[in-house]
Amino acid sequence: MLAKLILMPALFDSCPDRVSIYEVSPRDGLQNERAIVSLVDKLRLVDALVAAGLTRVEITSFVSPRWIPQLADADDVAKHARAPEGVTFSALCPNARGLERALAANIPEIAVFMSASETHNKRNVNHTITETLAALEETIGPARAAGLRVRGYVSTVWGCPYEGDVDPARAIALAGRLHEMGCYQVSLGDTIGAGTPRQTAEIVRRALDALPGDAIALHMHDTRGTALANIVVGLELGIRTFDASVGGMGGCPYAPGAAGNVATEDLTYLLHGMGIATGVDLARLIEAGRVASSIVGRALPGKVLTAGAKSLRA
Ligand code: HMG
Ligand code: MG
Repeated sequence: MLAKLILMPALFDSCPDRVSIYEVSPRDGLQNERAIVSLVDKLRLVDALVAAGLTRVEITSFVSPRWIPQLADADDVAKHARAPEGVTFSALCPNARGLERALAANIPEIAVFMSASETHNKRNVNHTITETLAALEETIGPARAAGLRVRGYVSTVWGCPYEGDVDPARAIALAGRLHEMGCYQVSLGDTIGAGTPRQTAEIVRRALDALPGDAIALHMHDTRGTALANIVVGLELGIRTFDASVGGMGGCPYAPGAAGNVATEDLTYLLHGMGIATGVDLARLIEAGRVASSIVGRALPGKVLTAGAKSLRA
């Protein structure tokens, strides 16, 4: 027993001092809201997120306005949002047409995306995975040549709303392709929030075998309440970037039944409580959550937004 205790590494020994949060509420959040939020209110949300100390914010999406009418004003959002020194705004971008719009709006970073499962890919972007890889090849290279940073997403890594189980080897191979094509970081998406910790450990270990640790992020929707548990597994195994959405807003309109991302304030509370810095001011983040809730006109599911920032231990 004693030998076992001595040999066993302590839990959380390999946790970092600092983690990077990539905020997606103005994009993943608002794309799935019933309400069409005005340009002014979108800019208020972005300002509130920046005021809370978030330095990486996905502010909109240059997809087809016919597919995502909620973000039809993407060009205006990107033109009017103001990033102070040290803050990087990015926007989702599906193809070369999206890149043209990103360049016109002078945004410094785009995020390309595809799914690990054929059916979700087809429903989400109207093309096969092979066709999507070709479209992304035509987007990533020219974006890099124009001086943009490019991030990537692989969706449905933990499961597909149409096909069920997804082969993790196939998902990680696609993440590797996006990295080879020029994405500085690939975010692995639990699009429908179906993942559990042991599954997460398998996916993250495979990802770390294929890509450098800082080239991997986790994007966990919280449909079944397992996002934070999966994130702790990712942290322990070496992941240092996590996507999140204030208030827990979000979801892919082409993934039926998917709820929002892990709430940024819940993630921040967890990290700070573990002694891991984020650069985010939790009280101001809760303020941003209130702005989010007021502009979409409904209560949001974020738990710390409801319970408050104060730890009972403090
Ligand atoms: P399509 O209809 O097959 O496109 O859509 P097309 O290439 O045949 O073109 C049709 C028309 O759309 C043309 O216009 C194009 O110019 C226009 P027309 O000649 O008919 O007037 N078009 C565009 N317009 C504006 N911006 C563009 C653009 N591209 C073409 N970029 C397309 C293909 C990919 C555009 C469409 O399927 C689409 O926009 N899909 C996006 C769906 C989406 O945004 N889903 C949610 C985001 S993904 C997500 O949430 C998951 C994630 O969070 C990670 C996770 O959770 O796992 C990232
Ligand atoms: Mg998402």
